[in-house]
Amino acid sequence: MKSIEGFRLAKRFEFGEVEVINFIRDKMFELERKGKRIIRMDMGDSNFDLPQEMKKGIEKALQSGKIKYPPQGGLPELREKLREKLKRQNKIHAEPEGILLTNGGMGGLFNTFFSLLDPGDEVILLQPFWSPLKYHCLYNDAKPIYVSLDENFQLDPDRIRKAITSRTKVIYINTPNNPSGSIFGREAIEEVAKIGLENRVWILSDEPYEDILFEGEHFSIASLPGVLERSVTTFSFSKTYAATGLRVGYAVTGNKDLAETLIHVDRQVSTGVNTLTQLALCSSEIDPNEIERMRKAYETRMELLYQGLSQLEGVSCVKPRGGFFMFPDFSSFIPQKVEGRSFFIADRLLEQGVAVVPGIAFGDGKSYEGHVRLNFSNLNESEISEALEIFQKTFLSAE
Ligand SMILES: Cc1ncc(COP(=O)(O)O)c(C=O)c1O
Repeated sequence: MKSIEGFRLAKRFEFGEVEVINFIRDKMFELERKGKRIIRMDMGDSNFDLPQEMKKGIEKALQSGKIKYPPQGGLPELREKLREKLKRQNKIHAEPEGILLTNGGMGGLFNTFFSLLDPGDEVILLQPFWSPLKYHCLYNDAKPIYVSLDENFQLDPDRIRKAITSRTKVIYINTPNNPSGSIFGREAIEEVAKIGLENRVWILSDEPYEDILFEGEHFSIASLPGVLERSVTTFSFSKTYAATGLRVGYAVTGNKDLAETLIHVDRQVSTGVNTLTQLALCSSEIDPNEIERMRKAYETRMELLYQGLSQLEGVSCVKPRGGFFMFPDFSSFIPQKVEGRSFFIADRLLEQGVAVVPGIAFGDGKSYEGHVRLNFSNLNESEISEALEIFQKTFLSAE
């Protein structure tokens, strides 16, 4: 990041990296400005609208005359509603004081790192991971320690165990996973919990895709004995309700000091989550069929994309079991001598009309060079078929 004529930015931004995603996005916007149609597989948004009840709830809240500063931590009736949801769905037995409304899942993640990290602390990031996490570590002068998932994007607890040092402060896990679509199994999660507890290391579990499953079950680490007090789990309404623009999520912890610190930080940074959305979440009972309809559509789109990619010779792809994304490996199409291989492939695809994110954005800056991340929640089936045709055309001509 640059300083202008001696007006220096904070030192914490001198980590010498520019967010990878932006290179491709800038070019994409430029092409769109010139009138080129781009199929957007790059972002984390769905093309579904908000559930009906949520819309009605927002309209009602707007007329209520109650759109004032929210209480710290969130509206008590909403925290109570979430307490019941956590108990029923996640088997997490939390007190309302440990359930905090956040500005998206992102707000919970950022505030947790800000509350826990000192300079020099190490954070175990299981890669591939959603790229903002790395920046959250770097902003706090903490050191990301990259531990790779295995070839099926499953977590290998032994790799985590080997990465623990006296400086390890947090282990970050994300299931269902962005970008790979994998779901971590209960046994592996139990091992992570053991490692965290034995080594007095916090666990940060990021679970915004908990409701978007195609196979298997979602298991929350904070449901295990003793973990809630030593962890934060972040959830979000962004993905379940296709509500990314509302910017609302929640964090849960059983640690009183940490809960108070998270509230303290939130008070100084954003003074809470907008009251309108909180009131709407309190009053509306979302029809589970609406959520299921979206989940089913994502599954159909995922299958279509996965089957299409599987027919392309030279592409390898682990089939997603949840979430919005697929993380195929196209490396056999990239000439060996090319530098910035995942950029090369993303750039080629962009020129043909499909925007994707280069794989290198999701790890230590060296890994996943043959990969790209594809979002399938934002496209209908005909757009996915169109994208597959473009993949085929691009890669056949690369031979
Ligand atoms: C893994 C992961 N965690 C957290 C988030 C945060 O989402 P939001 O802030 O919209 O709730 C995202 C969004 O894409 C994500 O992919």
